[in-house]
Amino acid sequence: MEQQHTIRVEEWARPGEPFRLAAVAIGAADWAAVLPATAQARVARFADGHARARAGASEWIKTCWLPRELGLAAVEVRTGANGKPLLEGAAAAWGFNLSHAGEYVVAALARDAQIGVDLESTSRKADIVRLAQRVFSACEQAAVQQGGRAAFFTLWSQKEALVKAVGCGWADERLQRGTALAPVGFQLEPTTGARVWSRPVIDGAYCLAVAMV
Ligand SMILES: CC(C)(COP(=O)(O)OP(=O)(O)OC[C@H]1O[C@@H](n2cnc3c(N)ncnc32)[C@H](O)[C@@H]1OP(=O)(O)O)[C@@H](O)C(=O)NCCC(=O)NCCS
Repeated sequence: MEQQHTIRVEEWARPGEPFRLAAVAIGAADWAAVLPATAQARVARFADGHARARAGASEWIKTCWLPRELGLAAVEVRTGANGKPLLEGAAAAWGFNLSHAGEYVVAALARDAQIGVDLESTSRKADIVRLAQRVFSACEQAAVQQGGRAAFFTLWSQKEALVKAVGCGWADERLQRGTALAPVGFQLEPTTGARVWSRPVIDGAYCLAVAMV
């Protein structure tokens, strides 16, 4: 556990934003060497090296970063409906979420709010027209027609963050065809009332979105 304080955590939130965003590169440590035994066991289930490193970074966020951030000896993370992570006990007032993409895991933390975060690699192969038709509303599809891949990944990450903040899963038709997201840096989404922040990170290699309800 000695290495945990040497792991580089990038703060991706901007001054004045009502959340913390902690990003960790999945290659930042030999996770098996820095995790508590129970978390090590969860990570060891992954046979693929990249998936194991990603799970290791995710477990480190939950078992090491979260308690340190909240000034607690430990934080219990329960899995709620549809897989949403929920903090328990002394940390229960905090909304927490995380996302992995490519070489990064990013965690979001906000007090007295439901929060969702999503990170999308902009180099990912995707049939953007078909996917937009499947899960975007008419105005979101129009934005993709106008803005191409950049608009698609921006809206996709926003929608994932929204789904994760609301916590209802993709089955909710309202979050597919009923939203009016736009490829802008900040907006109040009218259907859900969610505040949504969105921007490129790591020189445009990823789209980042945070939603709060
Ligand atoms: C959670 C979900 C919404 C996003 O997952 P994803 O983009 O594949 O993966 P991410 O790395 O961004 O997020 C995974 C993390 O989200 C969290 N999570 C899982 N289910 C969640 C839920 N229902 N609500 C909130 N957070 C959730 C977990 O912490 C998980 O990380 P962990 O397993 O290491 O703890 C996924 O379950 C899902 O349903 N995806 C639907 C795919 C789709 O059709 N997208 C259309 C986009 S327009």
